[in-house]
Amino acid sequence: MQRTPEPDELMDDMEQALAYARADFSEANGLFVDLLEGAAGGELNGRLLDLGCGPADIPLALARRHPALRIDAVDGAPAMLDLARQNIDADDTAGGRIQLMCAYLPCPDLPAHGYQTVASNSLLHHLADPAVMWQTVALCGAPGAAVVVMDLARPASELAVDALVETYAIDEAEVLRRDFRNSLFAAYTVGEVEAQLQSAGLHTLTVSMVSDRHLAVCGFLPH
Ligand SMILES: C[S@@+](CC[C@H](N)C(=O)[O-])C[C@H]1O[C@@H](n2cnc3c(N)ncnc32)[C@H](O)[C@@H]1O
Repeated sequence: MQRTPEPDELMDDMEQALAYARADFSEANGLFVDLLEGAAGGELNGRLLDLGCGPADIPLALARRHPALRIDAVDGAPAMLDLARQNIDADDTAGGRIQLMCAYLPCPDLPAHGYQTVASNSLLHHLADPAVMWQTVALCGAPGAAVVVMDLARPASELAVDALVETYAIDEAEVLRRDFRNSLFAAYTVGEVEAQLQSAGLHTLTVSMVSDRHLAVCGFLPH
């Protein structure tokens, strides 16, 4: 099935951002945290960059689990960052180690090679040019940095899209069902992401399916 890009890259509509922030992504977020901890060999420390952080559920989960971790969480949508700010301010212990940054990627102002871990969940399919993701990973990751980029994988057919929406979003608000559907059409396949990594020269990163609807790129940047 052909890819259909997202109507908008940023999630800057407040209704859309609120529906996303209120939804329960605990299963996918838990999978992402497991992949990241697996890649890092357990304990995460140093500086982590989260690209397309949304309402900051993942940065908060990571900061709670890893007391030595400092996180820069980047998003280009002020509406989403307002919700992230509220979530972070509500957490007295972990929230203080998360810095929110409003930046539209590609952003050359991010610290070059400043991060021991580069993470991103569910951003890749939003990007009109996926090379932006891999340029940012290569620019910001320190030598040997752990990298985990997880996203939806585009199903083979519209029927398969409909089945996933029915399975995972049947009780969700209409705006969220629409967004999930758009995201599945906009997602990349494992083969497309392999080609993106080749073009970016990121030969140490590998991509595989990690659930019935998610792919993940994992590995380390060269030393
Ligand atoms: C589907 S949300 C994922 C949020 C979060 N990572 C999570 O897993 O819950 C994608 C986020 O990426 C942001 N985004 C999309 N394109 C972007 C760009 N070019 N630069 C910065 N942020 C972007 C959107 O505003 C949105 O908040």
